[in-house]
Amino acid sequence: MSNDADKAKSKILIVDDEEFNRKLLKGILASTGHDVFEAVDGMKALELAKENPPDIILLDIMMPGMDGFSVCRKLKDSDKTNDIPILMITSLNEVDDYVRAVDSGADDFITKPVNATAILARIKGFLRNKQLSDKVKHINRFKNDLTRMIVHDLRGPMTGIMGYLDLSMNSDSISSKVREYLQNALSSAHDVSGLIDNLLGIEKLESGTLTLNPEPVHIPSLIQHNIDVQNANIIQSSLKVELQGPRDLICRCDQNLMNRVIQNMLVNAIKFSPENSVIKIEWESNSREFNYSVTNHGESIDPEYQAVIFNKFAQLDDRPALSRGGVGLGLAFCKMAVDAHGGSMELVSPATGFEDGVQFIAKLPLKKESAASSRASIT
Ligand SMILES: Nc1ncnc2c1ncn2[C@@H]1O[C@H](COP(=O)(O)OP(=O)(O)OP(=O)(O)O)[C@@H](O)[C@H]1O
Ligand SMILES: [Mg+2]
Repeated sequence: MSNDADKAKSKILIVDDEEFNRKLLKGILASTGHDVFEAVDGMKALELAKENPPDIILLDIMMPGMDGFSVCRKLKDSDKTNDIPILMITSLNEVDDYVRAVDSGADDFITKPVNATAILARIKGFLRNKQLSDKVKHINRFKNDLTRMIVHDLRGPMTGIMGYLDLSMNSDSISSKVREYLQNALSSAHDVSGLIDNLLGIEKLESGTLTLNPEPVHIPSLIQHNIDVQNANIIQSSLKVELQGPRDLICRCDQNLMNRVIQNMLVNAIKFSPENSVIKIEWESNSREFNYSVTNHGESIDPEYQAVIFNKFAQLDDRPALSRGGVGLGLAFCKMAVDAHGGSMELVSPATGFEDGVQFIAKLPLKKESAASSRASIT
């Protein structure tokens, strides 16, 4: 059965130190109409594959200098070339070669003496799969770009909605009932805005396109700002927030990222706290690191979940968060943002100093010079 993929022109790289073997394979492949190019040794093969990745590689094992196994391993270790199918050329009955070839990442074998029909059939199958996987990759890339664009474009209107809700709430001419509705709408808008920021932040951190912008950040102000934003939710659940830490603490970090870490940890604590309970926010720094922790009452998190809780979309079933929205990106964002600073996120459950609940801790290392100024006072 032929399809469009079969007809498309592909690039095939033959790697063999023996001219006779290269000519033989080239002759067999001539009828396919594909572009065939050659490398006489492993180094040249790596160079060519990196410069202009082929769709399939036929790789000899026995070559002077770098042998086929090493070339294969290097190709499979590189992001740029690891999806290229590699067919290793082995001698018949060399079982050891098969095992080593598989261990070094080869996708299949061609046995010497080569059989033209078998080679062509095998190459056809691999090229068809490669073209399909390239298509899937292309579609995924397109989908990711589109999602990023849509999420990014939602940010502007959300800022507008929050601004107008804020203005309306401060109007004298509305009843207390309407003010309460507006407050709820504003709180939901903040949730959506937080989700947008988490999605965009994670995408940037994952793709490596985010540049850290470390600057001296007055931590207590950042914490207070987030408490103010969440005030309606705190009141709604009759929660008490206790603060403990030096009022003059300045930490050198990326303000935007740290703000989002503080926000996510606080929002979670509010979401998962039972009504009329206490949330404790603590911060401190020593000569080596800055610690920020949020502790809340509620259910503890089973040890089996502790390893996955910082993964994307990880949510523990049967928790009230599911009814309060959220998709399980908050802690993943926190971990990536803190990791980007060279720090770590920790979960303590049951919470330290509480008989139940959880404590999340963000730990950021302090550089020697910034540690000295980390307690400088703010005027
Ligand atoms: N303070 C907490 N107390 C108890 N469970 C928590 C707490 N924080 C997080 N969890 C558990 O970890 C899960 C993952 O948290 P995460 O912040 O990543 O996602 P989310 O809050 O459900 O959604 P999102 O943050 O995307 O709005 C939560 O769904 C919940 O099951
Ligand atoms: Mg969350």
